[in-house]
Amino acid sequence: MYLSYDRPIAAQPLAFHTSTVNSSLERPVGFGVIGVGLMGEFHAANLARRVDGAQLVGLADPQPGLAEAAAGRFGARLWTRDYQDLLSNPDVEAVVIAAPAHHHASTVVAAAQAGKAIFCEKPLANTLADADRAIEAVTHAGVPFQIGFQRRFDAGFRGARALVDTGKLGEIQLLRSLTRDPLLDEPERVTAGAIFLETLIHDFDVLRFLAGGAEPVEVYAHADALILPDWRSRGLLDTAAVMLRYTNGALATADASFQAVYGYDVRAEVFGTLGMANVGDVVGPSLVHHSRAGMTRSRPHWFIDVFREAYVAELVHFAAFVRGNAEADNTVGDARAALVLALAAARSVQTRRPVQVSDVTG
Ligand SMILES: NC(=O)c1ccc[n+]([C@@H]2O[C@H](COP(=O)([O-])OP(=O)(O)OC[C@H]3O[C@@H](n4cnc5c(N)ncnc54)[C@H](O)[C@@H]3O)[C@@H](O)[C@H]2O)c1
Repeated sequence: MYLSYDRPIAAQPLAFHTSTVNSSLERPVGFGVIGVGLMGEFHAANLARRVDGAQLVGLADPQPGLAEAAAGRFGARLWTRDYQDLLSNPDVEAVVIAAPAHHHASTVVAAAQAGKAIFCEKPLANTLADADRAIEAVTHAGVPFQIGFQRRFDAGFRGARALVDTGKLGEIQLLRSLTRDPLLDEPERVTAGAIFLETLIHDFDVLRFLAGGAEPVEVYAHADALILPDWRSRGLLDTAAVMLRYTNGALATADASFQAVYGYDVRAEVFGTLGMANVGDVVGPSLVHHSRAGMTRSRPHWFIDVFREAYVAELVHFAAFVRGNAEADNTVGDARAALVLALAAARSVQTRRPVQVSDVTG
């Protein structure tokens, strides 16, 4: 396993995300970060140090002292316990919403009504009704929006998508995606349904991203508490396997575990009539230790180690999008479609039957 490390270089927009306009000549987009926990703090650090075209203006978190401490660390001039203070500040043009998921929809609505551009961490909401409320507000206000599916900004996943788009894999017939977190050490912090709404939602997005335009129409899922069986009665499912069927007959599987003893593991595969691409299986630094026991090589322990550059790239893209220098990516439609698949999977576990996507969308 290897530890997180900072690389103090300015990230540039990926060539395939942005136009050739030199965003460094433009005024940086002023950002406010709402929710300064694990992800909010990481996004704030990136906005302050690594995101070309962005400036960290302020932070909000209801926990006393949290926003202030982060503002001090990252050189932001505003901190508050009430995010409305950021929304009423004209220097804040855009917000990163990294509060817990059940706050996302109402925060998106408030930010849209305040005319702010919105980058929202996944999931957009925990229910379709809340997601649609948020989408309606974004659409009505006409503000830029992007959801935090950072795998789409990872060079490997984008490379696989390019192979699909250029026909090099032929007709796509099979896909797979998996996520395995390293350690389930704080089960009390895991919300019911998290394996679908928080974790596999990334995989559902990948399974749309790499499908060549086909959309899943049916979802069949099993999930259980295999790591912490005592938590089953509290609704904490820690292990899941899902099968999906697409409009064109293609098939996919996704699986997730909250405890992979060997570290963080994200992989995807897309298989077609002309070939196959796989992504993931990331290894750490090139050091290999040879001994009587064989060879050992470190691997990433946590998601930030794997997607460090993708998290920067998604915000570089979003800042360029806000300035009109990049196309919309990770749209409200993508946020909603992945949520629908997560909700379908959760319903399938409850009913022990395949669920039609159309039955979830109503
Ligand atoms: N894209 C990814 O790979 C990824 C990874 C981890 C988490 N996430 C997502 O990021 C979001 C936050 O996750 P986290 O792990 O950082 O959670 P966290 O619990 O570490 O942090 C959440 C923070 O939000 C604050 N908060 C609570 N209510 C708030 C409110 N109304 N306004 C402002 N702040 C509020 C909390 O005090 C806390 O500091 C979740 O939606 C999660 O799914 C995404």
